[in-house]
Amino acid sequence: AQIAIFASGSGSNFQALHEAIKEGRLDATIAVVITDQPNAYVVQRAEKANIKVVALSPKTFDTKEAYEEKIAEVLKALGVEWLILAGYMRLIGPTLLQAYPKRIINIHPSLLPSFPGKDAIGQAFQHGVKVTGVTVHYVDEGMDTGPIIAQQAVNIIEGDKEATELAIHRVEHELYTAALNRIFNM
Ligand code: GRF
Repeated sequence: AQIAIFASGSGSNFQALHEAIKEGRLDATIAVVITDQPNAYVVQRAEKANIKVVALSPKTFDTKEAYEEKIAEVLKALGVEWLILAGYMRLIGPTLLQAYPKRIINIHPSLLPSFPGKDAIGQAFQHGVKVTGVTVHYVDEGMDTGPIIAQQAVNIIEGDKEATELAIHRVEHELYTAALNRIFNM
């Protein structure tokens, strides 16, 4: 599968998928990393891995539609089949949804439908739940609302947000690889 990774931040999920591909645990090629944050750490990670980066700042486009049309153009030119969101902090709009129907996948650090949106791990601590987790799902027009593909529970480590975050990210990296493998081989 030819894939594009969409990321706005650290890119640990990008890194995990890249390593899974390199080690033959995931049958895919990362054609490009798309970011809306030219200074995000994911850019350095991708450059180090010799993977093409396209950084587009939405502010430099007149409309969201124009921004996404530009992205779609880049993706089509590279033969991208799947859009893999990994910490991409923007809602996908109708332009990309229509260009890639049922081909956009996201990972979210909670057991959806609990705690959608920003800072899902912080939300879980705020709420005092004892178990949270990770969800891989198809993207629709909503915020973290599309059909669920895979979920895994992670226990909250009471009073230790950092350790809990680490545990969640570790589960993310494994669950994303496993879920994508299943999807790409369907
Ligand atoms: C992950 O927790 C992912 O689930 C969420 O954003 C975070 C991205 O982390 N959507 P990273 O940039 O992959 O390290």
